[in-house]
Amino acid sequence: MTNTLIYAHRGSKGTHPENTLLAFEEAIRLGVDGIELDVHLTKDEQLVVIHDETVDRTTNGSGKVRDMTLEEIKKLDAGSWFSDEFSHATIPTLGEVLELLKDTDIRLNVEIKNDVVQYLNIEEVVLKELETYSYKDKSIISSFNHYTVKKVSQLDPEIETAILFMELLVEPWKYAKSIGASALHVYVPVAFADMSRKAQDSGYPVRVFTVNDEALMSQLMDLNIDTIMTDFPEKAMKIRDAK
Ligand code: G3P
Ligand code: CA
Repeated sequence: MTNTLIYAHRGSKGTHPENTLLAFEEAIRLGVDGIELDVHLTKDEQLVVIHDETVDRTTNGSGKVRDMTLEEIKKLDAGSWFSDEFSHATIPTLGEVLELLKDTDIRLNVEIKNDVVQYLNIEEVVLKELETYSYKDKSIISSFNHYTVKKVSQLDPEIETAILFMELLVEPWKYAKSIGASALHVYVPVAFADMSRKAQDSGYPVRVFTVNDEALMSQLMDLNIDTIMTDFPEKAMKIRDAK
């Protein structure tokens, strides 16, 4: 028996093209507890769901998201790079994903990408979109940019925020608290450190990315880690069901 939650990382990224509606639909079909996705802003200030700051790796186009309009982005094929059967996939807006989630209780982890390219006011735009779709209560905003995390928590102290980090920090929950964040999103190699247990004992959920190895999934579940984020949610759910 374990209480660990399972979030689909960029949707069901291992089986479908990442950060597309197809990957999110698959995650919903599986009955995951949460979905993680990444957002950037287009030239015309629209929030789009894509991991990289350029469209090069995951579409048939090239260039920076911030230099393209939504109309230009929408013409791109975001599925063929993964497999020909997904050639109809496009880069979704955050609004389209929220529309998909609207009748569910699935937690949405919006990771704001705001480091390689800096987007002025992306924090306000994300909060407004979550408000429009009445999804703030079911959302968590995270970022490797902790100025962004702090800004979100100042703009809206009610929304759950989390710091993303990859190093073994000393008492990171105290630092998180100082900037208004209430959860730790940590890279899997540091998840097994004593830090995680102490953080959870201090009331700070630890959510671990990206856990694709079945043995690691099982070990983290045995530790009752709050959440694992995985590219293979179906695998993780089978392991959890067997406990
Ligand atoms: O939010 C957890 C994880 O997605 C952070 O890393 O590079 O996959 O966005 P990345
Ligand atoms: Ca991410």
